[in-house]
Amino acid sequence: MRKKAIILGIETSCDETAAAVIEESSNDTPNILSNIVSSQIDVHKKFGGVVPELAARSHIEKISLIVENAIKKSGKKIDDIDAIAATAGPGLIVCLSVGLNFAKAVASSLKKPFIAINHLEGHALSPKLIKKLTYPYLLLLISGGHSQYLAVKGLGKYKRLGTTIDDALGEAFDKTAKLLGIEFPGGPFLEKFAEKGNHNRFLLPEPIINKGGCNLSFAGLKTAVLKISKTIKTNQDKYDLAASFQKTIENILNKKTKIAFQEFKNISSKKKNSFVIAGGVAANQRIRNNLTKLAIEEKFDPVFPPQDLCGDNAAMIGFAGLERFKISKFNKLNFPAKPRWPLDKKATFLKGAGVKL
Ligand code: KG4
Ligand code: ZN
Repeated sequence: MRKKAIILGIETSCDETAAAVIEESSNDTPNILSNIVSSQIDVHKKFGGVVPELAARSHIEKISLIVENAIKKSGKKIDDIDAIAATAGPGLIVCLSVGLNFAKAVASSLKKPFIAINHLEGHALSPKLIKKLTYPYLLLLISGGHSQYLAVKGLGKYKRLGTTIDDALGEAFDKTAKLLGIEFPGGPFLEKFAEKGNHNRFLLPEPIINKGGCNLSFAGLKTAVLKISKTIKTNQDKYDLAASFQKTIENILNKKTKIAFQEFKNISSKKKNSFVIAGGVAANQRIRNNLTKLAIEEKFDPVFPPQDLCGDNAAMIGFAGLERFKISKFNKLNFPAKPRWPLDKKATFLKGAGVKL
C-alpha cells in the first residue's frame, strides 16, 4: 500500500504566520498533525490596521521557528514530508513572498514537490478538514479581504455567483468597530458590543439589496455608521449602533443568500445541497445561527468550519496542498506571488467606481 501523504502547509498572506502538517487518511477527513498560528495583532493594534512592511518583517522573524514547531509537534521528521504547500496569493505581496520563498527553499533542499496554493481555495476547502463533502457545494466566503458566493464544482473549479463591489464584510466590521473606538481587529469585539445593544435603535441602509443578484455592497453602510458615530455619546449608544450594524448585516446576508440558493440550484443536480460558510467572519455566532436557520428552511445543509479554522491558518493550505498532491498538481519554483488571484478566472472584476450591476 502507498504511504499516506504528509504535507507541510505554510501561510503568510496577511498578518498570521502559520504552519501545519496534514496527513492523508483512509477516513473521510485528513489528520491535522499540527496547526500553529502566530497572530500579529499586537504589532498592528496601535495603527488600527495591518501595516504591510511590519507584517512582512514579523513573518521573516517568525517563519522558521513556526515551521520548525509545526514539524516537531506533528511527531514527524522533516524527511517524512512529501510536499510543501504555501499560499501564493491573493494577499499582501511583501507578506506572501516570505512564506512562498521559505516553502520553495525547503522544497528545493529536500528535493520534494512544491505546491502554490490560492488562499481562497484554502478557505473554500477548509470544511473538508472536518467533514466529508461532495462537489458541488455552495460557498459563502466572508473574510477581511473577500466576500463572495461561489459554486465549488471541484478542486480548482469555481463559479462566482456574487461578490462585494466595494468593501469586504470583515473590512466593514473592522471599520465600524474602529468608529466605535474598538481596537483592531474589531470584528470579534463588535459582536460582543452588539450583544448588549438594541438593534432597532438605528436604521441603516442595505446597499443594492434589491438589485445586482447576490452581489454585495457594504460601503454605504459604513458611511451611515460614520455619520451616526459622530452624534453618539454613551456606551449604550455604541452598543445600540453595533447591534443595529450587526442586524443590518444579517438582513443583507439573508436576502442575498436566498438569491444565491436559487442560482446554485440551477447549477447542481443534487437533491440536498451543502452550504458552506467560511472565512474569518464565519466565526460570528449570530451570523452562524441566522444562516443555519435560513439554510435549513431552504433545504440546504449548513456547514461551518470549526471557529479555529475559520480565520487564516495553514491547516487549510496544507489540505489544499494534499488534494493537489493526490493528483500530482505541482508547481515550478518560479511560481510568482500574486496579490490578486480570483478563483473564478472568467468572472468580471466588479470593484470600484462605475461598476454597473
Ligand atoms: O479569514 P480571515 O482571518 O483573514 C482574511 O483572509 O481576511 O478574516 C479576518 C476578518 C477580520 O476582518 C475580522 O475582524 C473578521 O474576520 N472577524 C469577525 C469575527 N471574527 C473575525 N467579524 C465579525 N465577527 C466575528 N466574530
Ligand atoms: Zn483568509
